[in-house]
Amino acid sequence: MKKPVRVAITGAAGQISYSIIFRVAAGDMLGKDQPVILQLLEIPPAMGALNGVVMELNDCAFPLVAGIVATDDPNVAFKDTDYAVLVGARPRGPGMERSDLLMANAKIFSVQGKALNDHASRDVKVLVVGNPANTNALITLKNAPDLNPRNITAMMRLDHNRSISQISEKLGCPTTSIEKMVVWGNHSATQYPDISYATAEGAPVKDKVDNDWYVKTFIPTVQQRGAAIIKARGASSAASAASAAIDHMRDWALGSNGQWVSMGVYSKGNSYGIDEDLIYSRPITCENGEWKEITGLEVNSFSREMMTATEKELAGEREAIAEML
Ligand code: NAI
Repeated sequence: MKKPVRVAITGAAGQISYSIIFRVAAGDMLGKDQPVILQLLEIPPAMGALNGVVMELNDCAFPLVAGIVATDDPNVAFKDTDYAVLVGARPRGPGMERSDLLMANAKIFSVQGKALNDHASRDVKVLVVGNPANTNALITLKNAPDLNPRNITAMMRLDHNRSISQISEKLGCPTTSIEKMVVWGNHSATQYPDISYATAEGAPVKDKVDNDWYVKTFIPTVQQRGAAIIKARGASSAASAASAAIDHMRDWALGSNGQWVSMGVYSKGNSYGIDEDLIYSRPITCENGEWKEITGLEVNSFSREMMTATEKELAGEREAIAEML
């Protein structure tokens, strides 16, 4: 049996974590041969609920769970952690402006960035899920100067998976036959799901759908999917978000087997002329525990316009929290 690795999960009593934690414990993220020590973080008022989650975890008697820590102290939750999934965030309250929301979260993620910097494994892989995910990841990165900036990422995989699912439904072909999907930019309504390079059963998706469907149906459907789920379910995406987080971390840790994935990663050194100080989603492959940008893709004028719009939004978010950087 391998040596256990430590997986920290924040917002551990919330709805997304209620799905993530059990899947990590079952080996869906790091493999069925990898024992895990779960380090679960919550805020003090949610510790009772978190204890309930721990009771259920114990009741599953998962063979891969080598230990469970439940705490309201980030310094304890991130101690020696090899993986950190940052789900807990401040939701938008009544009358809260977007700038207030950005600042409230900037405070949470600056504390967590520092705690990761001081206590986590030097190779920790961090995934920020809590919204605004990209800017929260940037704050985390800026507060963790001793960690490799490449190791702090934001979740765009739900948008990526949603895009594949929409194409699969439109073309009537399996999701596994769709490759080279890219979602650029921010996890928000400005994200750009780009089918320019995508193939389905080996042939270009662009040749199989008309441009009107792409621009007027596909792009807005993917951009607005989160709102559509809230309308239908009366609650925001949870199991699908958890599944995307598992996909992101599994591929990063174990490799994407040549498949393109979308990850929000630090933009320094990107090959697409994007502002170099953002967490901006781009096409990625993963191998040997490292992510690599797909370079050299041709960007047409429509794509450039869409990529710039989402870049500008991210720069505006960065501006709103500039004092915390
Ligand atoms: P939830 O409200 O059910 O759970 C959030 C949990 O975080 C709560 O239990 C809360 O007590 C905890 N929390 C708040 N501040 C914390 C802190 N400083 N440290 C530790 N825990 C803290 O929310 P849910 O549905 O689980 O969503 C979590 C976040 O994920 C939200 O910000 C949501 O917008 C975001 N999200 C991101 C997606 C993405 O694709 N990037 C997709 C779906 C949701």
